[in-house]
Amino acid sequence: MPATLIDGNAVSTSIKARLTKRVSELNEKGISPCLATILVGNDPASAIYIQNKQKAAKQVGLVTQDHRLKDDLSQEELTLLIDSLNNDSQVHGILVQLPLPEHINEFNIINKILPSKDVDGLTAINSGLLLHREASLKPCTPSGIMKLLDYYNIRIMSQNVVIINRSILVGKPLALLMLERDATVTICHSKTVNLNHLLLGADMIITAVGDRNKFVLNSEMVKEKAIVIDVGTNRQSGKLVGDVDFESVKEKASWITPVPGGVGPMTIAMLLSNTVTAALNPSSRQ
Ligand SMILES: NC(=O)c1ccc[n+]([C@@H]2O[C@H](COP(=O)([O-])OP(=O)(O)OC[C@H]3O[C@@H](n4cnc5c(N)ncnc54)[C@H](OP(=O)(O)O)[C@@H]3O)[C@@H](O)[C@H]2O)c1
Repeated sequence: MPATLIDGNAVSTSIKARLTKRVSELNEKGISPCLATILVGNDPASAIYIQNKQKAAKQVGLVTQDHRLKDDLSQEELTLLIDSLNNDSQVHGILVQLPLPEHINEFNIINKILPSKDVDGLTAINSGLLLHREASLKPCTPSGIMKLLDYYNIRIMSQNVVIINRSILVGKPLALLMLERDATVTICHSKTVNLNHLLLGADMIITAVGDRNKFVLNSEMVKEKAIVIDVGTNRQSGKLVGDVDFESVKEKASWITPVPGGVGPMTIAMLLSNTVTAALNPSSRQ
């Protein structure tokens, strides 16, 4: 029997409906949650991500600021903008779209954002809090994946989970969230030896490579009834596809996310949710 589809569009729609209600309750109390996004340069994929985030934020009633900056912007100019947003009591969440141009130090910029306004959950403070199970603003993609699994009551405890990605955005925080829920986690990457052997032992595979020339998950790499979560985004003849050979893997897996319509919409829903959380935190409203 083919896998059951994990529908990120449907789950994110229900989260956004709840957030819309919450935002309107906050508006009545005089709080207008505001998300400021910053895009540096003209990368078309990043521009689409920002456009989608802005649109979804407006849909749930958030106030938004959309800062678009030239790619020759200096580190100092970007820092000044972040400082001014940090000091603006009307702004509750700040998101800097990654990647930044090469001449800008990404770590320094991310860590200029006040942790209480860090709605991407990427600052060193929020990463550290995540390690201690104390984070209130968690990275959006990993927390979106956890929400999806919970929505469908998919078992996490004691599962062998293989994550193919070790970035600060996806793999590392996701591994922590999975550990919190008592999974046994293996993190794989480009230097992993015998990846196929590890994959065949996995109850759940979460792949986020994003380059089909380097890696495609096919049905021979997946054990019967495995759960397959596809985070990767690739363009193939102008079409958005994931890391997974969906047609073959869905015949073997028990659950599977599509691309598009799986993890992507959940990432955005979690960003909106983090912005509302930040608006409720007095230190983001100084
Ligand atoms: N849907 C969403 O909401 C969402 C959100 C975030 C990211 N994404 C997508 O997820 C993908 C990854 O994003 P990222 O920012 O984490 O990118 P990244 O930092 O480039 O991560 C890619 C990961 O894949 C690993 N890798 C590369 N080739 C491999 C191979 N042959 N075998 C095994 N592992 C391999 C890399 O290993 P090394 O560490 O050794 O280089 C790295 O850990 C991208 O497609 C991105 O667009 C989607």
